[in-house]
Amino acid sequence: MSDDPELRVSKIRNGTVIDHIPGGQALNVLAIIGIDGTSGEEVSVAMNIPSDRLGKKDIVKVEGRELSQNEVDVLSLIAPAATINIVREFDVAEKHRVERPSRVQGVLECPNRNCITTESEPVDSAFEVLDDGVRCEYCDTIIREDIAAHILVS
Ligand code: CTP
Ligand code: ZN
Repeated sequence: MSDDPELRVSKIRNGTVIDHIPGGQALNVLAIIGIDGTSGEEVSVAMNIPSDRLGKKDIVKVEGRELSQNEVDVLSLIAPAATINIVREFDVAEKHRVERPSRVQGVLECPNRNCITTESEPVDSAFEVLDDGVRCEYCDTIIREDIAAHILVS
């Protein structure tokens, strides 16, 4: 609905709105999509907004940017109910629910220092997605908490 009386941050013209993020996860979402503000991107963030579905939700709006499939895959791990809205000339042109992938490749760093993926070998990391975390396909290390802290900086 475009005439939302509860609108907290301005509508954007062209870009991506990530909506229905669990309350408190917006900064992790920004980390996943590689935004720390230093490159001058136009970004709006709303945190802990009352939501019927989630109790509290966060919203991230990025002007002039679309997301890669890899970013969406990692996003799904911390924000399984998120909707990705692609906005063009102020209209929502596309709306996608995130889907939990069965594996994520090259986006998370294995916490095991001895894992072949963390040595200088050019081996891409790969994790199998479990119900409650992700498991390294090379050394079986499981990450359950704070998956966002293991994102490889691109
Ligand atoms: N939005 C925006 N700028 C626009 C258009 C939409 O920031 N030019 C935001 C809205 O504020 C909302 C999200 O994008 O947070 C999705 O917009 P819309 O589909 O119009 O809202 P809803 O119908 O409430 O979405 P949903 O059903 O996914 O909750
Ligand atoms: Zn590993």
